[in-house]
Parts: sequence; structure tokens; C-alpha cells
Amino acid sequence: MRITLDNAIGEPTIVHWHGLTIETRNDGAGATLINEGQGYSYDFEVRDRGGLYWYHPHPHGQTAEQAYRGLFGMIEIEDDDERTLRAALDLTPGRSEIPLVLQDRRTGGEYAASEADRMHGLLGDTVLINGTACPHLDVATRVYRFRVLNASNARTYRLGFRTATGDNVPFALIGNDGGLLTAPQPCAEVFLASAERLDLLLDLSAAAVGDTLYLDTRAFDPMHMEMPAASGEAATHDAAMGHAMPAETAKEAAPAEHAAMGHDHSAVSHGGTFPEGATRALLELNVRERVSYAARVPARLSSLVPIDVSNTSERALRLGFAKGRWRINDRVFAMGETPIEVKRGTVEVWLIRNYFNSMPHAMHLHGFHFEVLERQTSPDQIAGLRIDERGRLATDLGRKDTVLVWPGETVRVAIDFSLPRTTAFAGDQIYMFHCHNLEHEDGGMMLGVRIV
Ligand code: C2O
Ligand code: CU
Ligand code: CU
Repeated sequence: MRITLDNAIGEPTIVHWHGLTIETRNDGAGATLINEGQGYSYDFEVRDRGGLYWYHPHPHGQTAEQAYRGLFGMIEIEDDDERTLRAALDLTPGRSEIPLVLQDRRTGGEYAASEADRMHGLLGDTVLINGTACPHLDVATRVYRFRVLNASNARTYRLGFRTATGDNVPFALIGNDGGLLTAPQPCAEVFLASAERLDLLLDLSAAAVGDTLYLDTRAFDPMHMEMPAASGEAATHDAAMGHAMPAETAKEAAPAEHAAMGHDHSAVSHGGTFPEGATRALLELNVRERVSYAARVPARLSSLVPIDVSNTSERALRLGFAKGRWRINDRVFAMGETPIEVKRGTVEVWLIRNYFNSMPHAMHLHGFHFEVLERQTSPDQIAGLRIDERGRLATDLGRKDTVLVWPGETVRVAIDFSLPRTTAFAGDQIYMFHCHNLEHEDGGMMLGVRIV
């Protein structure tokens, strides 16, 4: 693929091809700066599965602002499985197959991150879908495919559909970050963190003309439990600090969790009128037309060979906060340093462990995909969605490039560090491993990874 991007943002930038297996010189590792007003011609081979990938700016320290301003785009990669699915369900991109790019923004604002925003991640008060606030879509009585990207700087969503009278409408999850799953997974709701993607089918063939449905983000506990607090603050926390905790979960939360939240949770700095974990309707679907539609979702969507983890070493990666910064293994990013060194062609298991006094972190690796093996000690709101005895969620299936790790949780992932033997990949390759809460990334919650 050859693609030329012109930099019209008024400051230097650099692009990361999120989710794609690309040689370092074409990716956002910090080396290829595109100056203001200049263009850059990327030329690389596409090697990845069919899927909806994306590209976004990655200049260290300015990623959050440039992405917030909308400097990103999507790349659709089509393959045979994609074509088979579209034919089976009679899907037409732009009509019955629709990308939904979620991004929360502050009204009337340039990007201006306060100290609290840099700590928690910047939350907007409006959610735009494909750049539009309060969008609605006219639909017919058939199957729709929605391909969802969470392009928000920091906000996690708990997505589900419902009828106007509040009944849950289940959907079939068919894909995520790394393309189609092997088989559809029935779901009532899913969490979607920054940079994660979802591919889903919503069957409206039994709906009636005149029906209205909604895609919501539902209430959840955002679990910002960053700082050990001085005792005695717990009682006033919810009322005085305006934290984003919905009433039901607030009642259930253990007193110890409350006491842990001792940092500044002022309403303005932490989501304003729309704190993280608050309910909101994001998209309205209006059923306008009856059509006859008989297609069935295929039982098999793609094939995937599990990564062989029989002779692998495990690498522990701890997510925590110290001396005012979010850290991975107690370190912050330093340009040119690559504390994670991996031998080309090996398979590793990464044990990504988040401390309890933390907040959720959406961990992303450039250049390679994760196979999620296991979730351990998940909080209740996550454990309740598990689909197997390894604690995995429907959204953990298939291939991922970003996984959300909740406070107190450990996620085990397998990574195959094979790279093509072409001249493009000759020599050491440098990639990044970081939190995709973009304020955390800019603040240094990122480590260089060297493939030798
Ligand atoms: Cu989408 Cu390094 O990030
Ligand atoms: Cu918080
Ligand atoms: Cu983070």
C-alpha cells in the first residue's frame, strides 16, 4: 500500500498505523517526524487479517492533543472471510454496514488538559459518533453490521442496545481489533476502552416499523482508585467529590474502595456533566421500512490458529503510579530506551498486572497482536461478563492489539514476535507498549520494545 499523508495540523507530527504489522521506519516509534506543511509517503505491505484498523498521530507528548483534534482515519482491510460474510448477509458498506467512531469532546473547547485530566485522562461532555452529536439512523427490518472504534482519549464505554421501553436487545459480536472472530458470540453488552474496536451484528428483522432502539453506554463503576487516601475522606467522597459512580454500584462498593479515592475528583476535572461510567444514549435507530430478509448469520466466520505457548517465557508488566506519574514496571518512557527486549521469532506470554490502587489502563502494543489467554482476579462487573473458565470476555476472543486491565486484575496474553524476513524488517525493530489512555501515554506510561 502506498499512502501519502499531508500534515496540515500546524505542528510536526508522526503517524502510527494502529494494529498493523509494519516495519519501524514507517511507524510511529518516534523516528519519522513529518514537519508542518509537509507530506510523507508511506509505502508498506499490508500483512494483516481483514479488519478495520486505524492510524493516528504519535508524536511523544502531543498524541493526546492531536488525536483529540481529530487527526486520525480508518483503514479497512478486506479478505475472503470478509467477502463471504458480506455476501451471506447481503451487507452494503455505508447502508447496512456502518462504522461508528466514538469520540467524546468538550463543548467549545480547544484541547486543554488540566493536571487532573493528565492524571485520569481527559473526558468530554459530549460523545460524537462519526463527528456528530446525538446522531440517529433510519433502518429497515434486517441485519445491520456496526464496526465500532473507540477513538476517545480516555473514556471507556459499556455498550448495549435497548428498545424505547428499556428492554435489552442482544447482538452478536463477530469481530474485534484484529478482525473476525472464528464464530459469532451472543452478547448483551460489552466494555470498550480507548483504541479498542468491535464488529457486531444487530438483527432488526423482527422489529416493527415505528420502533425506536438505542445504543447506550450503561452505568458502571469507573474504578478510579488511584491514591491511598488519608482516612476519614470516604464519607464525603461521593457527595462532595462528584465522582462518576452510579448509585447502584456506589452502594455495593466496599468501604475500602471508597477510602482509596483520595485525589481530586472535582466535577469539572473529572467528566463534568458526563462522568465516566454515567449512562447516556449514544445513537438512535428509527425503524422506517419493512423489508423481507431471510439471511442467517454464518456459524463460522474465520479461522485462527492458537499461538503455541508450550515453550515460552513469561514477562511480568506491572501498571502503577508513583512520584506523580503512571508507570510500567516502575519506569516512564525515555526516548531511545527500550527496556523490553525480545528475540525475533519467539513467543512470549505477558502477564499484565494492574495494582488495586490504580485505575483501568488500556494496554496497547505496536506491531504485534495479543491472544488473550486468561483474566485473573477481575472486578465483579467484569467477572460477570466472562464467557469461559479462564475468565475471558467475548471481547477478548480473536486477536487484540489493546486490552483493558482493571484495578486489581491480571491479564495474560500470548504474543508471537515473528517478523517477515524481508529487507524492510532487516535490523532491530523498535515498537511501543503503552497505555492508550492518551493522557497517560503522553505522560510517559509507555516503554520501548526492541526486537533483536
Ligand atoms: Cu493507537 Cu501507540 O497507539
Ligand atoms: Cu478518579
Ligand atoms: Cu492508563
